[in-house]
Amino acid sequence: LKEKGDNITEETMSLISSLPSHADAQGKKLCKYQGTWYYFNILQGVVNFQRNFQPQDTDIILASFPKSGTTWLKALTVALFERSKHRSSSDDHHPLLSNNPHGIVPFFEIDMYLESSTPDLTKFSSSSSSPRVFSTHMPLHTMKEALKDSPCKIVYVCRNVKDTLVSLWCFACAHEKTELSRSRLESMFKSFCNGTIFYGPFWEHVLSYWRASMENPSHVLFMRYEEMRSEPRGQVKRLAEFLGCAFTKEEEESGMVDKILDLCSLRNLSGLEVNKSGRINTVDHKIFFRKGEVGDSKNYLTPDMENEIDMIIQEKLQGSGLKY
Ligand code: A3P
Repeated sequence: LKEKGDNITEETMSLISSLPSHADAQGKKLCKYQGTWYYFNILQGVVNFQRNFQPQDTDIILASFPKSGTTWLKALTVALFERSKHRSSSDDHHPLLSNNPHGIVPFFEIDMYLESSTPDLTKFSSSSSSPRVFSTHMPLHTMKEALKDSPCKIVYVCRNVKDTLVSLWCFACAHEKTELSRSRLESMFKSFCNGTIFYGPFWEHVLSYWRASMENPSHVLFMRYEEMRSEPRGQVKRLAEFLGCAFTKEEEESGMVDKILDLCSLRNLSGLEVNKSGRINTVDHKIFFRKGEVGDSKNYLTPDMENEIDMIIQEKLQGSGLKY
C-alpha cells in the first residue's frame, strides 16, 4: 500500500479527530470510519471516492478483504473481457502479459482516489466496448451512497479467515522485507480477533456483501476462494455468466475456459517478467503471489489460535445464513 500521508486535507484531519483511533503494533495509526478501520491516508481515498465517484450502469466492481484472492479475481475478470480480442495465449499484446492485475484494475481508495478527488476515469476500460472495471477493499455499506442505486455489478471474493490472516502476515513481512516473526503474527491475530485490523472487522466486511448477494443476486456475486480452487471451471463460468459474458458452446468446446484458467493461474502469472520484477506504488508485484494453498494457516497458527478465531467467526456470523 502507498504509504503517503501528505494527501490528507484539513477537513479529513478534522474528521479523523472526531473518530475513534488506535495505533497498530508498528505504531501506524488507524481510525474507525463508518464501522471500519482505516489508515489515515487511505481514509482520505475513501472520502474522496464517496464524494466524487459517478457510477455508470455497466461498471464492474471487484471487492474483497485484503489477501482473499483479489489478484486472481482481477486477472480472471480481465481475461474474460479480453478473450475475444486475444485468441492465442501467446499473444504479446494481452494486458495480463505486460501488466500486473492491480495495474489494470485499480483500487478506488488505494489508487484512484488516494491523491485526487477527480481522477481520470476514462482510461479504466480496455476498450470502448468493455465496461469499466474497478476494485475496492471497502465494505459495501461504505460504497452504498456513492453508488446511488446503480445496477452495476459487484463481485466479492471471500476466503477462509485463518488463511487470510496468515496470507496478510506473510505479505506484510515480505513488504517490509523482514523475517516471518511469531510476535508479528500474534499481534495481527489479536487485531483480527478484536476487529481492529485495517479494513476490519472481518466479519462485518464479509456480511455486508453476503447480505446484499442474498437480497439482490444479480447485483452482487459472492464467490469463495476455496471453491475457485476446488472447482475452477465451474466458478469461472459462474463469474462469466454474472458479468454478462458467458462462454458460448463453441468457446467451451474449443477449450477457452481452460485457456483462461491457465493464463490466470498463480504459476503462470508469477512466472511472468512483469510480475517478477515490477512494482505498483511501493509494493513489488511478486509479493502478491505466494502459495495459494487452501488450509496453509494450519502450518502457522496454534490449535488455540484456530479455536479462538473459529469461535469468534461462528458467533459473529450466527443467524446470517453464511456457512463458514
Ligand atoms: P497466499 O498468501 O495464501 O499464498 P490478494 O490477491 O487478495 O492479495 O490475495 C493474495 C493471496 O492470493 C495469496 O495467498 C496469493 O498467493 C494468492 N494468489 C495470488 N494470485 C493467485 C492466482 N492467480 N491464483 C490463485 N491464488 C492466487
